[in-house]
Amino acid sequence: MRVDVITIFPDYLEPLRLSLLGKARDRGMLRVHGHDLRDWTTDRHRTVDDTPYGGGPGMVMRPEPWDAALRAVAGSDGPAPRPRVIVPTPAGRPFTQAYAAELAAEPWLVFCCGRYEGIDGRVVEAWADDEISIGDYVLSGGEVATLVMLEAITRLLPGAVGNAESISDDSFAHGLLEGPVYTRPPEWDGRRVPDVLLSGDHGAIARFRRDQALRRTARRRPELLAALDLDDRDQRVVAE
Ligand code: ADE
Repeated sequence: MRVDVITIFPDYLEPLRLSLLGKARDRGMLRVHGHDLRDWTTDRHRTVDDTPYGGGPGMVMRPEPWDAALRAVAGSDGPAPRPRVIVPTPAGRPFTQAYAAELAAEPWLVFCCGRYEGIDGRVVEAWADDEISIGDYVLSGGEVATLVMLEAITRLLPGAVGNAESISDDSFAHGLLEGPVYTRPPEWDGRRVPDVLLSGDHGAIARFRRDQALRRTARRRPELLAALDLDDRDQRVVAE
């Protein structure tokens, strides 16, 4: 997968060299190019923003540098493959595990990181395929949201995570929150690991884990359960 990120703070992309993302890049599964939006300004002060039409607080990013950057990075003419252009914004569609899986299947993504009050609506309308929010809170810009999305997407690229099962067991993979996990020692600070996990009975362990996931989801995210087709056994566990 190829990823381009346009931002006025390319240094924000340094964490993409670390850990799972860094390894995916080293292995050639992920190619990331950062671009400084100010490279497409034409004035001496390299201005990217201006006051909002209609009044109000803050500044808005001007359309011209964005259009020039997107023409250069994403290409505007010819039959060549076009990337999926994404604008992170708190006003976007919610980012979910399913959305991450959809984006992981794309060959080429371009993230446009806005700052201030956002990017001029006309250039967003002209270029963006998706406007995406990572949650109901406001960040200072799209850079951290882009890092979040890229980590979720990269984990889903074939072969990026060592053990494919660890992806299919993740919270949300079955629409449920994952229950607690344990490792050695079997007793720590007077607290024992649940006996069933030491039993070697794989059927009992799978049932135990599902019950834990159901109970945790019922307590913390009841709205997720409503979207699932629970059988009678699951219903009993949830009702306990
Ligand atoms: N930019 C600022 N806040 C954001 C959010 N919650 N999601 C995506 N992009 C953002």
